[in-house]
Amino acid sequence: MTSSNRTVVVTGASGFLAAWILPKLIARGLTVIAVDIARDEMRLRQVVRGEAPDEIAWQVADLTNDGIMSRIAEQHAVSTILHLAALQIPACRANPLAGAKVNVVGHVSVLEAARSVGARVIYTSSVAAKPRGAANAPANLYGVFKRADEEIARLYAEDFGVSSFGLRPHVVYGIGRDQGETSAVTSAMRAVALGARYTVPWTTATCFQFADDIAEMFVRLVEAEWNGAHLADMTDNVESTADIIAAIRAVAPEADVRAEGPERLSPTTGFDVAALEKIIGPRPLTPLAEGVRRTIEHFRDLRTKGLA
Ligand SMILES: NC(=O)c1ccc[n+]([C@@H]2O[C@H](COP(=O)([O-])OP(=O)(O)OC[C@H]3O[C@@H](n4cnc5c(N)ncnc54)[C@H](O)[C@@H]3O)[C@@H](O)[C@H]2O)c1
Repeated sequence: MTSSNRTVVVTGASGFLAAWILPKLIARGLTVIAVDIARDEMRLRQVVRGEAPDEIAWQVADLTNDGIMSRIAEQHAVSTILHLAALQIPACRANPLAGAKVNVVGHVSVLEAARSVGARVIYTSSVAAKPRGAANAPANLYGVFKRADEEIARLYAEDFGVSSFGLRPHVVYGIGRDQGETSAVTSAMRAVALGARYTVPWTTATCFQFADDIAEMFVRLVEAEWNGAHLADMTDNVESTADIIAAIRAVAPEADVRAEGPERLSPTTGFDVAALEKIIGPRPLTPLAEGVRRTIEHFRDLRTKGLA
């Protein structure tokens, strides 16, 4: 990113990760164009514990509509597109056609927009794209779509010179995580803050990542100079649902929370964060116990403000 062009388009701007990323982009003095199929600032208000920053320019748009992302990119002379919009696992399973449209066609439309204005793309792939199990392949359509996105981005660099950086978040937790299969971990922390019982309906060993760390990594990547096509994991720190429950009980010993049910298969080895650290330096890594404590305290604060 050059000092003369600091305009970033963020897709999926009403979603969870955007709610953590947008305030950081604004705080760093970047110009932010927020794109989503529906404008909803609830998660943003929850993250900042008050009114959403009014510097954000909103554009309500369905990114699968032909040419819409290119028009937005041209209109705002964009230098970076931070592409977060997607349908998650349950939505892709319930409606594969919609999943393919948003997660694959939408991704191509973002790359086309970048191509038309010479912008870079930072996009969210997922740990779900990584191979696992007997088939040594992604375990669901969502993962297959994300894997395809990685290859599409690689070819857009090769064929059209579009620079991109794909990041693979694992299980992200924090305020505003209320959609997707793995949001159950955050729901457990919310339940504790509200004095309710909760059972995470699966167990797993995987990497749990605090939303604030993820947001910081994305923003550092937006600010850094780089080109070419890159892909990286964002963590290699494997923990378990038992560790999450222990971290919750350390904050709220009275909590009636548990994790029970089928084991979710997730890769526990073969992570590569080198391409990311080469550009942003050492990653911010909030320990699980601290991230869980901050999340429960944040939910308690939102409850007193009527925002939980
Ligand atoms: N949250 C996680 O733990 C996690 C883990 C791995 C990868 N990811 C990926 O990170 C990205 C952001 O995740 P999130 O948790 O913020 O998701 P989210 O579901 O909270 O937000 C996604 C946003 O995309 C928007 N959207 C959907 N279809 C659209 C369309 N056609 N046009 C415009 N906007 C549309 C939705 O309205 C929503 O606001 C996604 O690509 C997701 O697959 C998230």
